[in-house]
Amino acid sequence: MIRRFELKDLMQILEIERNSFPKTPYSVSTLMYLSHYYSFLVYEEDKISGYVVYDPANGHIISIAVRPENRRKSIGSKLMNEVFKDCKRVWLEVRVSNEAAQRFYERLGFQKKGRIERYYGDEDALVMVREG
Ligand SMILES: CC(C)(COP(=O)(O)OP(=O)(O)OC[C@H]1O[C@@H](n2cnc3c(N)ncnc32)[C@H](O)[C@@H]1OP(=O)(O)O)[C@@H](O)C(=O)NCCC(=O)NCCS
Repeated sequence: MIRRFELKDLMQILEIERNSFPKTPYSVSTLMYLSHYYSFLVYEEDKISGYVVYDPANGHIISIAVRPENRRKSIGSKLMNEVFKDCKRVWLEVRVSNEAAQRFYERLGFQKKGRIERYYGDEDALVMVREG
């Protein structure tokens, strides 16, 4: 099921972060900040399998990740579909090297609209938009 983030989920989200973004995982304080200021949804089965954080005011996806062992089971798509119910126009940045995520977003109807040089410091970002 998909529900709002709760404090008890924190350690599991940290684990997903470390597995999904080994070079740049969010810290506890960043996750706490995000949970206060943005919409933070988790996908829970026996444990937390994935999450999405977005800004409902403007449709900006701040982060999405699914446990490596649970990928390609539509969990990411289900999380994004919750965002689409809330925001008509949805947009995000993605590393130019992250082709798996780009395929995922394209499958959901996003289009590449621009490129931000050195957005990640060490790498450019593609900006992808879904008009809804
Ligand atoms: C991107 C991510 C969230 C996708 O989650 P997911 O639950 O595996 O995605 P889904 O199962 O809903 O995939 C839906 C479709 O997207 C496409 N897709 C997803 N992952 C893909 C991959 N690795 N390679 C190619 N296409 C992919 C496929 O078309 C897939 O449908 P299919 O499995 O029937 O072929 C997940 O791979 C992830 O956590 N990656 C690491 C973190 C990350 O890069 N986040 C995005 C940062 S911008």
